[in-house]
Amino acid sequence: MKKRIAVLLSGRGSNFEALADSIAAGRLPDTEIVLVVSNREGAPGIEKARQRGIPARVIPSKGLEREAYDRLVVAALDEVNPDLVCLAGFMRLLSPYFVERFRGRILNIHPSLLPAFPGLEAQRQALEHGVKFAGCTVHFVDENLDAGPIVLQAVVPIRDDDTPDTLSARILDEEHRIYPEAARIVLEGHYRIEGRRVILESGEPGKA
Ligand code: GAR
Repeated sequence: MKKRIAVLLSGRGSNFEALADSIAAGRLPDTEIVLVVSNREGAPGIEKARQRGIPARVIPSKGLEREAYDRLVVAALDEVNPDLVCLAGFMRLLSPYFVERFRGRILNIHPSLLPAFPGLEAQRQALEHGVKFAGCTVHFVDENLDAGPIVLQAVVPIRDDDTPDTLSARILDEEHRIYPEAARIVLEGHYRIEGRRVILESGEPGKA
C-alpha cells in the first residue's frame, strides 16, 4: 500500500509542488499526497493541488481559537489517515492537541539554519544579522515554534549583494531539494531519534 502524505499550507505552495513532483518522478516512491489543506482562502497552493487532481480543502482559521481550529484540521486528516503530515508554508503554530495526535509524523520546512532565525521572515533576519551562511531546515514538529529534531539541513552562502528576495530564491531551491528527501527518509523509517538528534541509518544525509 502506498504511503500517504497530507500537506498543510497557507500560500504559494511551491514546497507542496516539490513533493508532488518528486512523487511523479519516482524520487519519493510508493507515496501519494492524499489531501492538501489551506487555512487561507485563495491560497495559490490550493489551486495548484486541484490542477493536479489532488483533493484540496480550505479550512479557514480566521477568528478561531488555536485548538478549536486544529480540531477541525485533525478531523479532516483523520478522514484520509495520513502516514505523514507535511507543513509547507503553513503559517500557524500547532496546538499541543494536534502535535499529540500526530507526534513523530509531522514535518516542517523552515528557511533558515535552525535554531537560528525561527519565526517570520527568516531570510531577512539572516541578512540583517549579517551571517555569511543561510539555508533551510526540515524538522519534526513539536509544541514549540520551529523547534523539533532536525532531519536535514542545506547551507546557502550569502552574497554581499543579496536582498531578501534573491536570498529567498536560492534557499527555496534547496528547500525543494531537501523536503522530498526528508519525507522519504521519514516515510521509509530509515532513522532513529536519540534525544534531539535524528540519526540517519546510512550515516549520511541523502543516502538513507
Ligand atoms: C517557504 O520558504 C517555507 O520555508 C516558509 O514559507 C515558504 C513557503 O513557500 N516557511 C516558513 O517560514 C515557516 N516558518 P511555499 O508556499 O512556496 O512552499
